[in-house]
Amino acid sequence: MLSIVSLAVLLAVSGVQASIPVPWTLPTTYPNLTACAALPAQYSCENTTVLTNSCCNVVKGGLVLQTQFWDLYTGLENEGQLLPKGSWGIHGLWPDNCDGSYDQYCDLTRQYDPDPSSGITPYKGPSVRTFIEAFGRWDLLEYMDTFWINQGAPNADFWAHEFSKHATCTSTFDVACYEPGYKEHQDVVNFYETVTKVFQMYPTYNMLAASGILPSNKTTYTLAQITNALYSQTGAVPYLGCSGNGTALDEVWYFHHVLGTEQYGHFKTLNSTTPSSCQATGIWYYERTPTSERLVTY
Ligand SMILES: *[C@@H]1O[C@H](CO)[C@@H](O)[C@H](O)[C@H]1NC(C)=O
Ligand SMILES: *[C@@H]1O[C@H](CO)[C@@H](O)[C@H](O)[C@H]1NC(C)=O
Ligand SMILES: *[C@@H]1O[C@H](CO)[C@@H](O)[C@H](O)[C@H]1NC(C)=O
Ligand SMILES: *[C@@H]1O[C@H](CO)[C@@H](O)[C@H](O)[C@H]1NC(C)=O
Ligand SMILES: *[C@@H]1O[C@H](CO)[C@@H](O)[C@H](O)[C@H]1NC(C)=O
Repeated sequence: MLSIVSLAVLLAVSGVQASIPVPWTLPTTYPNLTACAALPAQYSCENTTVLTNSCCNVVKGGLVLQTQFWDLYTGLENEGQLLPKGSWGIHGLWPDNCDGSYDQYCDLTRQYDPDPSSGITPYKGPSVRTFIEAFGRWDLLEYMDTFWINQGAPNADFWAHEFSKHATCTSTFDVACYEPGYKEHQDVVNFYETVTKVFQMYPTYNMLAASGILPSNKTTYTLAQITNALYSQTGAVPYLGCSGNGTALDEVWYFHHVLGTEQYGHFKTLNSTTPSSCQATGIWYYERTPTSERLVTY
């Protein structure tokens, strides 16, 4: 058995996070769902009775989109901000309303976005990175710095944007759901955990590669080829986004209704409610510049 002393020595010798104190207890990130056990389980947007507890069910933002990017570069390569080789990147987890419309920046007391949409005051406080550190979640930070990569600005700016613009409109991340005993930014860290969990349901790069669809600057693909590859693994048609007038694949959105909470509940994959912006044939799925990528091991 590893004693306390030898653990400390190991950390010191390996040099890994040696300057970081190892606390004996860490604040928890989960909400208080005690009241939920007594309630009926229903999927968001499919409920046949009124969902009375907005902490137990996603009553606001119940059409949930897990969104990903295929970026070719970050613009901050010289600072080491690189894309994960063999993987798409995380965009976010978006709360559309059941009818496909959406709200944004629903709680300005949780506005951490340094570069928000017009009309919203930019945030100038400590980075959301420090929120995650306060919960000791170095694992989560490392994962986010690997797969949740910004373009033209630091990663944490992007994470802050996604929380403040979108997560504040999802009922199960409301501060009230963490009472009693809410710890500041518990909701933020809990959202980031949830985003990475749902992202891992959809390894887009691998699903496409398994059907022979690999990034190429020589061959194009059809929309049907790309759609069928993803449909065969998810049972649903995601939204596929293309730039360059529909010629260059760069986005995918997976649609869901959620039973229970967004944090821990079941995600049912659904067909997209948004038509693809890609043309039917001649779609490029470009190779990235090798110097914009790094090898990752997850
Ligand atoms: C959770 O909230 C309920 C009230 O709904 C309360 O009785 C219970 O003590 C809370 N649990 C914790 C762990 O705080
Ligand atoms: C489903 O739940 C929402 C949120 O509580 C409510 O507004 C809506 O009326 C419910 N739908 C039905 C058919 O009861
Ligand atoms: C998109 O199409 C429009 C009209 O055909 C054209 O003017 C524009 O240059 C095209 N843009 C790109 C990026 O190909
Ligand atoms: C989803 O889309 C596929 C392909 O267009 C279609 O065959 C299927 O019936 C759709 N599923 C539902 C539930 O609408
Ligand atoms: C492939 O083409 C894209 C888009 O023009 C470019 O950004 C990228 O550097 C190219 N990749 C390679 C490996 O040539």
